[in-house]
Amino acid sequence: MKNKILVTGGAGYIGTHTCIALHESGYEIVIYDNLSNSSYEAINRVSNLIGQSIEFIEGDIRDAGKLKEIFNLHEFFGVIHFAGLKAVGESVAKPLMYYDNNVSGTITLLAVMAEFGVKNLVFSSSATVYGDPETLPINETSPRSATNPYGQSKLTVEHVLEDLAAADKEWSLITLRYFNPVGAHESGQIGEDPSDIPNNLMPFISQVAVGRRDKLSIFGNDYPTIDGTGVRDYIHVTDLAQGHVAALDHLQQQTHAAGFLPINLGTGRGSSVLELVNAFSKVNKIDIPYQFAARRAGDIASCYASADKAQELLGWQAKLSITNMCEDTWRWQSMNPDGYNTK
Ligand code: NAD
Ligand code: UD1
Repeated sequence: MKNKILVTGGAGYIGTHTCIALHESGYEIVIYDNLSNSSYEAINRVSNLIGQSIEFIEGDIRDAGKLKEIFNLHEFFGVIHFAGLKAVGESVAKPLMYYDNNVSGTITLLAVMAEFGVKNLVFSSSATVYGDPETLPINETSPRSATNPYGQSKLTVEHVLEDLAAADKEWSLITLRYFNPVGAHESGQIGEDPSDIPNNLMPFISQVAVGRRDKLSIFGNDYPTIDGTGVRDYIHVTDLAQGHVAALDHLQQQTHAAGFLPINLGTGRGSSVLELVNAFSKVNKIDIPYQFAARRAGDIASCYASADKAQELLGWQAKLSITNMCEDTWRWQSMNPDGYNTK
Protein backbone atom coordinates (compact mmCIF):
# COMPACT_ATOMS: atom_id res chain seq x y z
CA MET A 1 0.00 0.00 0.00
CA LYS A 2 1.24 3.51 -0.79
CA ASN A 3 2.10 5.29 2.42
CA LYS A 4 4.14 8.32 1.39
CA ILE A 5 2.64 11.64 2.47
CA LEU A 6 3.49 15.18 1.42
CA VAL A 7 3.17 17.44 4.45
CA THR A 8 2.89 21.11 3.48
CA GLY A 9 3.67 23.41 6.40
CA GLY A 10 5.24 20.42 8.15
CA ALA A 11 7.88 22.57 9.88
CA GLY A 12 5.23 24.49 11.84
CA TYR A 13 3.65 23.92 15.24
CA ILE A 14 1.00 21.34 14.37
CA GLY A 15 2.98 19.97 11.40
CA THR A 16 6.04 18.96 13.44
CA HIS A 17 3.93 17.07 15.98
CA THR A 18 1.97 15.40 13.21
CA CYS A 19 5.15 14.31 11.39
CA ILE A 20 6.27 12.47 14.51
CA ALA A 21 2.87 10.77 14.88
CA LEU A 22 2.88 9.81 11.16
CA HIS A 23 6.37 8.36 11.41
CA GLU A 24 5.40 6.35 14.50
CA SER A 25 2.43 4.97 12.55
CA GLY A 26 4.57 3.82 9.65
CA TYR A 27 3.97 6.64 7.16
CA GLU A 28 6.83 8.04 5.09
CA ILE A 29 6.96 11.82 5.06
CA VAL A 30 8.19 14.59 2.81
CA ILE A 31 7.93 18.07 4.37
CA TYR A 32 7.37 21.05 2.09
CA ASP A 33 7.56 24.45 3.81
CA ASN A 34 8.76 27.94 2.93
CA LEU A 35 9.88 28.51 6.55
CA SER A 36 7.97 31.82 6.64
CA ASN A 37 6.81 31.00 10.17
CA SER A 38 9.17 28.20 11.20
CA SER A 39 12.82 27.18 11.22
CA TYR A 40 15.34 24.50 10.25
CA GLU A 41 15.86 23.93 13.94
CA ALA A 42 12.31 22.57 14.25
CA ILE A 43 13.03 20.09 11.46
CA ASN A 44 16.35 19.08 13.07
CA ARG A 45 14.55 18.37 16.29
CA VAL A 46 11.92 16.25 14.58
CA SER A 47 14.74 14.26 12.94
CA ASN A 48 16.39 13.78 16.33
CA LEU A 49 13.14 12.64 17.92
CA ILE A 50 12.40 10.07 15.23
CA GLY A 51 16.03 8.95 15.04
CA GLN A 52 16.45 9.53 11.31
CA SER A 53 16.79 12.49 9.03
CA ILE A 54 13.47 13.68 7.70
CA GLU A 55 13.11 14.63 4.05
CA PHE A 56 12.59 18.39 3.78
CA ILE A 57 12.14 20.57 0.71
CA GLU A 58 12.08 24.32 1.11
CA GLY A 59 9.43 25.82 -1.12
CA ASP A 60 6.16 27.69 -1.41
CA ILE A 61 2.76 26.13 -2.12
CA ARG A 62 2.15 28.90 -4.65
CA ASP A 63 5.10 27.63 -6.72
CA ALA A 64 3.44 25.12 -9.09
CA GLY A 65 6.72 24.35 -10.87
CA LYS A 66 8.46 23.27 -7.69
CA LEU A 67 5.47 21.22 -6.57
CA LYS A 68 5.44 19.41 -9.92
CA GLU A 69 9.13 18.55 -9.54
CA ILE A 70 8.33 16.94 -6.18
CA PHE A 71 5.30 15.04 -7.49
CA ASN A 72 7.49 13.77 -10.32
CA LEU A 73 10.02 12.43 -7.85
CA HIS A 74 7.64 10.85 -5.33
CA GLU A 75 4.55 8.71 -5.53
CA PHE A 76 2.29 10.10 -2.82
CA PHE A 77 -0.76 8.48 -1.26
CA GLY A 78 -1.95 11.92 -0.22
CA VAL A 79 -1.21 15.38 1.13
CA ILE A 80 -1.67 16.84 4.59
CA HIS A 81 -2.00 20.55 3.99
CA PHE A 82 -0.99 22.70 6.98
CA ALA A 83 0.77 25.48 5.04
CA GLY A 84 -0.90 28.81 5.56
CA LEU A 85 -0.89 32.02 7.54
CA LYS A 86 -2.89 32.11 10.79
CA ALA A 87 -2.70 35.47 12.59
CA VAL A 88 -6.15 37.04 12.74
CA GLY A 89 -4.97 40.64 13.35
CA GLU A 90 -2.40 40.45 10.55
CA SER A 91 -5.07 39.13 8.19
CA VAL A 92 -7.18 42.23 8.83
CA ALA A 93 -4.19 44.46 8.01
CA LYS A 94 -2.98 42.38 5.03
CA PRO A 95 -5.98 40.61 3.48
CA LEU A 96 -4.36 40.15 0.06
CA MET A 97 -1.42 38.35 1.62
CA TYR A 98 -3.83 36.00 3.43
CA TYR A 99 -6.02 35.23 0.43
CA ASP A 100 -2.92 34.73 -1.72
CA ASN A 101 -1.23 32.32 0.71
CA ASN A 102 -4.23 30.45 2.03
CA VAL A 103 -6.62 30.45 -0.93
CA SER A 104 -4.45 30.82 -4.05
CA GLY A 105 -1.79 28.60 -2.47
CA THR A 106 -4.33 25.84 -1.83
CA ILE A 107 -5.75 26.10 -5.36
CA THR A 108 -2.24 25.79 -6.83
CA LEU A 109 -1.60 22.73 -4.69
CA LEU A 110 -4.94 21.13 -5.66
CA ALA A 111 -4.28 21.72 -9.36
CA VAL A 112 -0.90 19.96 -9.14
CA MET A 113 -2.45 17.10 -7.14
CA ALA A 114 -5.13 16.73 -9.81
CA GLU A 115 -2.52 16.69 -12.58
CA PHE A 116 -0.67 13.83 -10.86
CA GLY A 117 -3.84 11.96 -9.90
CA VAL A 118 -3.19 12.33 -6.15
CA LYS A 119 -6.69 12.94 -4.81
CA ASN A 120 -6.42 12.38 -1.06
CA LEU A 121 -6.16 15.54 1.01
CA VAL A 122 -6.33 16.34 4.72
CA PHE A 123 -6.87 20.07 5.11
CA SER A 124 -6.32 22.24 8.23
CA SER A 125 -9.51 24.13 8.78
CA SER A 126 -10.58 25.80 12.00
CA ALA A 127 -13.48 26.21 14.39
CA THR A 128 -13.31 29.83 13.28
CA VAL A 129 -15.52 28.81 10.31
CA TYR A 130 -18.44 28.47 12.76
CA GLY A 131 -18.32 32.20 13.55
CA ASP A 132 -20.46 32.97 16.62
CA PRO A 133 -22.22 29.62 17.16
CA GLU A 134 -25.98 29.55 17.71
CA THR A 135 -25.91 26.27 19.65
CA LEU A 136 -23.34 24.33 21.66
CA PRO A 137 -21.67 21.93 21.32
CA ILE A 138 -20.90 22.73 17.69
CA ASN A 139 -21.40 19.90 15.22
CA GLU A 140 -20.25 19.75 11.61
CA THR A 141 -23.60 20.83 10.18
CA SER A 142 -23.70 24.06 12.20
CA PRO A 143 -23.95 27.24 10.08
CA ARG A 144 -20.68 28.73 8.93
CA SER A 145 -19.57 32.36 8.73
CA ALA A 146 -16.41 34.41 9.03
CA THR A 147 -15.64 37.65 10.79
CA ASN A 148 -12.12 38.34 9.51
CA PRO A 149 -9.99 37.61 6.42
CA TYR A 150 -8.21 34.68 8.08
CA GLY A 151 -11.52 32.98 8.86
CA GLN A 152 -12.85 33.90 5.43
CA SER A 153 -9.78 32.31 3.79
CA LYS A 154 -10.49 29.02 5.60
CA LEU A 155 -14.17 29.17 4.70
CA THR A 156 -13.36 29.95 1.06
CA VAL A 157 -11.05 26.94 0.85
CA GLU A 158 -13.82 24.79 2.32
CA HIS A 159 -16.14 26.00 -0.47
CA VAL A 160 -13.48 25.23 -3.07
CA LEU A 161 -13.12 21.71 -1.66
CA GLU A 162 -16.89 21.17 -1.66
CA ASP A 163 -17.14 22.26 -5.31
CA LEU A 164 -14.20 20.06 -6.25
CA ALA A 165 -15.73 17.02 -4.55
CA ALA A 166 -19.03 17.68 -6.38
CA ALA A 167 -17.29 17.97 -9.75
CA ASP A 168 -15.01 14.95 -9.46
CA LYS A 169 -16.06 11.93 -7.40
CA GLU A 170 -12.49 10.63 -7.09
CA TRP A 171 -11.48 13.16 -4.44
CA SER A 172 -11.30 12.50 -0.70
CA LEU A 173 -11.06 15.88 1.01
CA ILE A 174 -11.01 15.51 4.78
CA THR A 175 -11.38 18.92 6.34
CA LEU A 176 -10.31 18.89 9.97
CA ARG A 177 -11.77 21.77 11.95
CA TYR A 178 -9.39 22.27 14.87
CA PHE A 179 -10.67 23.82 18.05
CA ASN A 180 -7.91 25.40 20.23
CA PRO A 181 -4.61 23.52 19.87
CA VAL A 182 -2.24 23.88 22.83
CA GLY A 183 0.54 21.90 24.52
CA ALA A 184 3.77 20.47 23.18
CA HIS A 185 5.55 17.18 22.59
CA GLU A 186 6.19 15.38 25.88
CA SER A 187 9.95 15.50 25.25
CA GLY A 188 9.96 19.31 25.53
CA GLN A 189 11.92 19.41 22.26
CA ILE A 190 9.22 20.86 20.01
CA GLY A 191 6.35 23.23 20.66
CA GLU A 192 4.65 26.45 19.66
CA ASP A 193 7.09 29.27 18.98
CA PRO A 194 5.30 32.52 18.14
CA SER A 195 7.63 34.93 16.37
CA ASP A 196 5.82 37.99 17.76
CA ILE A 197 3.77 38.86 20.84
CA PRO A 198 1.47 35.85 21.21
CA ASN A 199 -2.10 36.37 20.10
CA ASN A 200 -3.33 33.13 21.64
CA LEU A 201 -3.91 32.46 25.31
CA MET A 202 -1.68 29.48 26.15
CA PRO A 203 1.54 30.84 24.58
CA PHE A 204 0.89 34.14 26.36
CA ILE A 205 0.47 32.38 29.72
CA SER A 206 3.68 30.41 29.22
CA GLN A 207 5.64 33.54 28.23
CA VAL A 208 4.42 35.22 31.43
CA ALA A 209 5.50 32.12 33.35
CA VAL A 210 9.00 32.22 31.87
CA GLY A 211 9.35 35.96 32.51
CA ARG A 212 9.17 37.21 28.92
CA ARG A 213 5.93 39.14 29.69
CA ASP A 214 4.87 40.85 32.93
CA LYS A 215 1.26 39.83 33.10
CA LEU A 216 -1.64 38.42 31.17
CA SER A 217 -4.56 40.59 30.13
CA ILE A 218 -7.81 38.63 30.30
CA PHE A 219 -10.05 39.96 27.56
CA GLY A 220 -13.45 40.36 29.18
CA ASN A 221 -14.95 39.10 32.45
CA ASP A 222 -18.59 39.81 31.69
CA TYR A 223 -19.39 37.01 29.23
CA PRO A 224 -22.36 34.76 30.00
CA THR A 225 -20.06 31.91 31.09
CA ILE A 226 -19.22 30.08 34.32
CA ASP A 227 -16.97 32.92 35.59
CA GLY A 228 -17.46 35.67 32.99
CA THR A 229 -14.33 34.81 30.94
CA GLY A 230 -14.35 33.24 27.47
CA VAL A 231 -14.80 29.48 27.14
CA ARG A 232 -12.90 27.41 24.55
CA ASP A 233 -12.24 23.77 23.72
CA TYR A 234 -8.48 23.36 24.28
CA ILE A 235 -7.01 20.29 22.64
CA HIS A 236 -3.52 18.85 23.13
CA VAL A 237 -1.45 19.08 19.93
CA THR A 238 -0.45 15.41 20.35
CA ASP A 239 -4.13 14.39 20.25
CA LEU A 240 -4.58 16.65 17.24
CA ALA A 241 -1.62 14.98 15.52
CA GLN A 242 -3.21 11.56 16.14
CA GLY A 243 -6.39 12.88 14.51
CA HIS A 244 -4.44 13.32 11.26
CA VAL A 245 -3.11 9.78 11.44
CA ALA A 246 -6.68 8.55 12.02
CA ALA A 247 -7.87 10.56 9.00
CA LEU A 248 -5.22 9.01 6.73
CA ASP A 249 -5.85 5.52 8.11
CA HIS A 250 -9.53 6.05 7.32
CA LEU A 251 -8.71 6.96 3.72
CA GLN A 252 -6.42 3.94 3.39
CA GLN A 253 -9.32 1.66 4.37
CA GLN A 254 -11.95 3.17 2.06
CA THR A 255 -12.98 1.50 -1.17
CA HIS A 256 -14.80 4.66 -2.35
CA ALA A 257 -13.61 8.26 -2.29
CA ALA A 258 -14.88 10.21 0.71
CA GLY A 259 -15.77 13.45 -1.10
CA PHE A 260 -15.81 16.58 1.08
CA LEU A 261 -15.70 15.36 4.65
CA PRO A 262 -15.60 17.97 7.45
CA ILE A 263 -14.69 16.66 10.92
CA ASN A 264 -14.26 18.54 14.20
CA LEU A 265 -11.14 17.87 16.23
CA GLY A 266 -11.89 18.97 19.77
CA THR A 267 -12.33 17.39 23.19
CA GLY A 268 -16.02 18.26 23.53
CA ARG A 269 -15.29 20.15 26.77
CA GLY A 270 -15.00 23.89 27.31
CA SER A 271 -12.68 25.65 29.78
CA SER A 272 -12.75 29.32 30.72
CA VAL A 273 -9.72 31.60 30.60
CA LEU A 274 -9.61 31.68 34.40
CA GLU A 275 -9.86 27.89 34.61
CA LEU A 276 -6.89 27.53 32.25
CA VAL A 277 -4.81 30.16 34.07
CA ASN A 278 -5.54 28.53 37.44
CA ALA A 279 -4.80 25.05 36.10
CA PHE A 280 -1.45 26.24 34.68
CA SER A 281 -0.52 27.86 38.02
CA LYS A 282 -1.51 24.83 40.06
CA VAL A 283 0.04 22.15 37.84
CA ASN A 284 3.33 23.98 37.38
CA LYS A 285 3.41 25.78 40.73
CA ILE A 286 3.93 29.19 39.11
CA ASP A 287 1.98 32.33 39.80
CA ILE A 288 0.53 33.92 36.64
CA PRO A 289 -0.20 37.61 37.31
CA TYR A 290 -3.21 38.84 35.35
CA GLN A 291 -5.52 41.81 34.98
CA PHE A 292 -8.98 42.04 33.47
CA ALA A 293 -9.14 44.09 30.27
CA ALA A 294 -11.81 45.01 27.72
CA ARG A 295 -13.24 42.31 25.47
CA ARG A 296 -11.16 41.66 22.33
CA ALA A 297 -12.91 42.66 19.12
CA GLY A 298 -14.30 39.65 17.28
CA ASP A 299 -14.21 37.32 20.32
CA ILE A 300 -17.15 35.13 21.19
CA ALA A 301 -18.32 33.95 24.63
CA SER A 302 -18.14 30.18 24.23
CA CYS A 303 -17.02 27.64 21.67
CA TYR A 304 -16.66 23.89 22.07
CA ALA A 305 -16.99 20.92 19.79
CA SER A 306 -19.19 17.96 19.43
CA ALA A 307 -16.46 15.38 18.84
CA ASP A 308 -18.91 12.56 18.00
CA LYS A 309 -18.26 12.43 14.26
CA ALA A 310 -14.49 11.95 14.73
CA GLN A 311 -15.20 9.14 17.17
CA GLU A 312 -17.76 7.42 14.94
CA LEU A 313 -15.95 7.77 11.63
CA LEU A 314 -12.28 7.79 12.56
CA GLY A 315 -12.37 6.00 15.90
CA TRP A 316 -10.50 8.99 17.28
CA GLN A 317 -10.98 10.85 20.51
CA ALA A 318 -8.83 13.22 22.52
CA LYS A 319 -7.11 11.51 25.44
CA LEU A 320 -4.97 14.16 27.11
CA SER A 321 -6.22 16.42 29.90
CA ILE A 322 -5.87 20.11 30.72
CA THR A 323 -3.21 19.02 33.23
CA ASN A 324 -1.21 17.35 30.43
CA MET A 325 -1.62 20.48 28.27
CA CYS A 326 -0.29 22.75 31.03
CA GLU A 327 2.59 20.43 32.01
CA ASP A 328 3.76 19.88 28.44
CA THR A 329 3.49 23.55 27.49
CA TRP A 330 5.62 24.46 30.48
CA ARG A 331 8.21 21.74 29.83
CA TRP A 332 8.71 23.08 26.30
CA GLN A 333 8.71 26.74 27.37
CA SER A 334 11.03 26.29 30.38
CA MET A 335 13.50 24.17 28.38
CA ASN A 336 13.34 26.66 25.49
CA PRO A 337 12.73 30.13 26.95
CA ASP A 338 13.38 31.70 23.54
CA GLY A 339 11.71 28.95 21.55
CA TYR A 340 13.85 27.51 18.75
CA ASN A 341 16.31 30.41 19.17
CA THR A 342 17.30 29.09 22.59
CA LYS A 343 21.01 28.32 22.62
P1 NAD B 1 2.40 27.40 11.84
O1 NAD B 1 2.53 28.80 11.37
O2 NAD B 1 3.25 26.97 12.98
O3 NAD B 1 2.65 26.39 10.62
C1 NAD B 1 2.32 26.70 9.29
C2 NAD B 1 3.53 26.39 8.44
O4 NAD B 1 3.22 26.69 7.09
C3 NAD B 1 4.78 27.20 8.82
O5 NAD B 1 5.86 26.33 8.99
C4 NAD B 1 4.99 28.13 7.63
O6 NAD B 1 6.36 28.42 7.41
C5 NAD B 1 4.35 27.34 6.49
N1 NAD B 1 3.83 28.15 5.38
C6 NAD B 1 3.06 29.25 5.46
N2 NAD B 1 2.77 29.70 4.22
C7 NAD B 1 3.38 28.85 3.34
C8 NAD B 1 3.46 28.80 1.93
N3 NAD B 1 2.87 29.71 1.16
N4 NAD B 1 4.17 27.79 1.37
C9 NAD B 1 4.80 26.87 2.13
N5 NAD B 1 4.76 26.89 3.47
C10 NAD B 1 4.06 27.87 4.08
O7 NAD B 1 0.85 27.16 12.16
P2 NAD B 1 0.15 25.93 12.87
O8 NAD B 1 -0.37 26.40 14.17
O9 NAD B 1 1.00 24.74 12.82
O10 NAD B 1 -1.12 25.77 11.92
C11 NAD B 1 -1.14 24.85 10.84
C12 NAD B 1 -2.43 25.01 10.07
O11 NAD B 1 -3.53 24.82 10.95
C13 NAD B 1 -2.62 26.41 9.47
O12 NAD B 1 -3.23 26.26 8.21
C14 NAD B 1 -3.57 27.09 10.44
O13 NAD B 1 -4.34 28.09 9.82
C15 NAD B 1 -4.42 25.93 10.89
N6 NAD B 1 -5.01 26.13 12.23
C16 NAD B 1 -4.21 26.43 13.29
C17 NAD B 1 -4.78 26.65 14.53
C18 NAD B 1 -3.91 27.01 15.72
O14 NAD B 1 -4.44 27.50 16.72
N7 NAD B 1 -2.61 26.78 15.71
C19 NAD B 1 -6.16 26.55 14.70
C20 NAD B 1 -6.95 26.21 13.60
C21 NAD B 1 -6.36 26.01 12.36
C1 UD1 C 1 -8.18 32.73 17.98
C2 UD1 C 1 -8.71 33.37 16.73
C3 UD1 C 1 -9.22 32.29 15.80
C4 UD1 C 1 -8.11 31.29 15.50
C5 UD1 C 1 -7.58 30.73 16.82
C6 UD1 C 1 -6.41 29.80 16.61
C7 UD1 C 1 -9.44 35.63 17.32
C8 UD1 C 1 -10.63 36.53 17.51
N1 UD1 C 1 -9.73 34.33 17.07
O1 UD1 C 1 -9.23 31.99 18.58
O2 UD1 C 1 -9.68 32.85 14.60
O3 UD1 C 1 -8.61 30.22 14.71
O4 UD1 C 1 -7.15 31.80 17.66
O5 UD1 C 1 -5.29 30.50 16.14
O6 UD1 C 1 -8.31 36.07 17.36
N2 UD1 C 1 -7.43 35.57 25.72
C9 UD1 C 1 -7.14 36.41 26.76
N3 UD1 C 1 -5.92 37.02 26.77
C10 UD1 C 1 -4.98 36.82 25.80
C11 UD1 C 1 -5.30 35.93 24.73
C12 UD1 C 1 -6.54 35.34 24.72
O7 UD1 C 1 -7.95 36.64 27.66
O8 UD1 C 1 -3.88 37.42 25.86
C13 UD1 C 1 -8.75 34.88 25.72
C14 UD1 C 1 -9.62 35.17 24.52
O9 UD1 C 1 -10.41 36.31 24.75
C15 UD1 C 1 -10.43 33.87 24.42
C16 UD1 C 1 -9.47 32.80 24.94
O10 UD1 C 1 -8.49 33.50 25.70
O11 UD1 C 1 -11.53 33.92 25.29
C17 UD1 C 1 -8.78 32.03 23.84
O12 UD1 C 1 -8.16 32.95 22.94
P1 UD1 C 1 -7.20 32.49 21.75
O13 UD1 C 1 -6.18 31.55 22.27
O14 UD1 C 1 -6.72 33.71 21.04
O15 UD1 C 1 -8.16 31.62 20.81
P2 UD1 C 1 -9.53 32.03 20.11
O16 UD1 C 1 -9.96 33.38 20.46
O17 UD1 C 1 -10.48 30.93 20.37
